[in-house]
Amino acid sequence: MNTLKLAVQKSGRLSETSLKLIKECGITFQTRIAKLKAGAFNFPMEFLYLRDDDIPGYVADQVADVGIVGKNVLLEKNDELEIIKELGFSKCRLSIAVPKEFDYQGIESLNGLNIATSYPRILAKYLKQQDIDADIHEISGSVEIAPSIGLAQAVCDIVSTGSTLVSNGLVEVEVILNSEAVLVGPPDLAEPKRKILDQFLFRVNAVQAANNNKYILLNAPDQAITRIIQLLPGMRSPTIVPLAQKGWSSLHSVVKEDDFWEVIENLREAGAEGILVVPIEKMIL
Ligand code: PRP
Ligand code: ZN
Repeated sequence: MNTLKLAVQKSGRLSETSLKLIKECGITFQTRIAKLKAGAFNFPMEFLYLRDDDIPGYVADQVADVGIVGKNVLLEKNDELEIIKELGFSKCRLSIAVPKEFDYQGIESLNGLNIATSYPRILAKYLKQQDIDADIHEISGSVEIAPSIGLAQAVCDIVSTGSTLVSNGLVEVEVILNSEAVLVGPPDLAEPKRKILDQFLFRVNAVQAANNNKYILLNAPDQAITRIIQLLPGMRSPTIVPLAQKGWSSLHSVVKEDDFWEVIENLREAGAEGILVVPIEKMIL
């Protein structure tokens, strides 16, 4: 069949941002997530709304062709799938935490403890690497309450804002893994699905580039232009348009979101005025 089946999380950490990315790619679809399946109206894509923990399995079994899932879930559930693209959202970490009263002296303090987690595979691998001998107690949810009810002395769980740890009297002591949403698929996706995936990736790249960059317009006296061009390399080189006022020009370029504040400061020092910064909707490199 000539549609690409994309598995996305039904509800939780990734679902909203995953759907937002798809929308920004210009793909329209029914957003009633009550349904398990929905087809896109204007792109050969179908969505399967699933529990995140199930997504790697469904993709491995080819029920879905590709999926958007946390790197943490992928590494826990499946080794055969490939990360096609890191998506840069839903960043979190998988960490070990202990009750705040615990006298933590470093990783050796974990020896002999009982650690509750929903990530037994990743944790076992980590403990082995670190040469720590601890017991792993697998539970599927509400890991953070395990120490207070006497089920374990430490936990290994997802930390995002850290508020779950704080409200359960726990402190993060070791970071095992930095995670984010990733697009995953089999290493050998065949045509014509491969071609649809490439079209989708082209759009995702354009959306990401746009989100990571800003369009900048400014006015400057002509003698400042050489210096300003050095500060603003842009996509190829900046556009320069003369102003009605003699000796002045308007300069248009693109600036990276990450460098933004530093560049603005340098531009002002170089003599730029009337700086406008506007979001870019799509950016094709
Ligand atoms: C994780 C984790 C904590 C919470 C931490 O659960 O189990 O409960 O997020 O986030 P915080 O640091 O911002 O407080 P998640 O939302 O991934 O749900 P799931 O484990 O049921 O998939
Ligand atoms: Zn989950």
